[in-house]
Amino acid sequence: MTDIIQVGLGFWGYDWATGVLPEVETVRVAAYVDPSEEARQRIADKLNVPADRCFASLNDALAAVNAPIVLATLRTDAHYPVARRALEAGRHVIVEKPFASSVGEAKELVALAAAEKRMLMVSQNYRHYPAPIRVAEMVAQQALGHVSLVDIVFRQHAPSIGYRYWDFPDPLLADMSIHHFDLMRMILADEPKAVSCRTWNLPGSPFQNHPVGVVTVEFAGGTIVSYRGSWMSGGAATAWAGEWTIDCDEGEIWFTSRGHGAERLERDRVVLRRRGSAAEEQILDHVRYFDRAGTMAAMEQAVRTGVPPARFSSGADNLMSLALMQASIVSTQRGGDWVSIEEILSV
Ligand SMILES: NC(=O)c1ccc[n+]([C@@H]2O[C@H](COP(=O)([O-])OP(=O)(O)OC[C@H]3O[C@@H](n4cnc5c(N)ncnc54)[C@H](O)[C@@H]3O)[C@@H](O)[C@H]2O)c1
Repeated sequence: MTDIIQVGLGFWGYDWATGVLPEVETVRVAAYVDPSEEARQRIADKLNVPADRCFASLNDALAAVNAPIVLATLRTDAHYPVARRALEAGRHVIVEKPFASSVGEAKELVALAAAEKRMLMVSQNYRHYPAPIRVAEMVAQQALGHVSLVDIVFRQHAPSIGYRYWDFPDPLLADMSIHHFDLMRMILADEPKAVSCRTWNLPGSPFQNHPVGVVTVEFAGGTIVSYRGSWMSGGAATAWAGEWTIDCDEGEIWFTSRGHGAERLERDRVVLRRRGSAAEEQILDHVRYFDRAGTMAAMEQAVRTGVPPARFSSGADNLMSLALMQASIVSTQRGGDWVSIEEILSV
């Protein structure tokens, strides 16, 4: 059993504390941190936590508790100061996605983690689902040959589902597409080279910024990804990972992943279509810890054994997902011009 400190007990932090961490048998929360007394009290009441395990500041928790892992379930702008402090105090760190407010901040944290010899992880929870894991394996084995084109569509209608981040600067790209960008890299085992993107808002939409967009990504190995996402779709909602068609030399791989609420695992499907043959539905492996529990269990295993498991979303790895997100934002600011990942990483 490994102890952790959880920092940030707002809407999402409460969900982590009550709905995710109790499922992970290998970890125990030794301290909860939030400056809001109301947020601390809500956790104390719900989980019967004694007052001496709830702290108003990370420094107080670090002084009181020797837990090796700090989990930051905070808004993005608070990731950098919290992760920095925890790394300097010799702790391993997990931060929620997106990694940081800028590529510069993220690079600093990666360098600090390396200097302190600590693990830094970004919670890319969509990695921990049976369908993308299987598809990544199939692509690696070239099950249908070389991948030339990937088509991804994501559709949700935010006003109908209790969405709450209406004021986010880039609600599609930074809140949602970051999951899809990260899955592109995991599945293709390749890195993006350049991106072209347009985003926009709709008349009467509750979003202050752009909830709809199209993105084209060129990967180093030559694969082109065509992505369309909408938080304001009137059409049939896709699962949260979207619907993917991966066009290969000898056929196509179709998949979808991450359902909603209690049915999060039920939507995962992978279908293989060899050219000229009937579609073959794949039987997917059981995943012991999925979604955010998968993130937490992977970090615990990495810290306990010293060896990060497959597809571990380290800070160093996640720099490229963050850069792809940032390049998309810059491209949309430039009216859809192609933006190279190199330019974004050279800050
Ligand atoms: N992975 C996913 O699918 C997913 C889904 C929803 C939200 N999120 C992420 O979770 C993040 C948090 O969202 P939220 O809705 O919980 O925000 P929130 O505003 O409800 O909560 C933030 C909490 O952090 C606390 N806080 C602020 N600074 C702090 C500090 N320095 N130390 C300790 N506590 C501090 C605040 O008091 C507040 O209670 C968002 O950035 C979002 O990207 C991820």
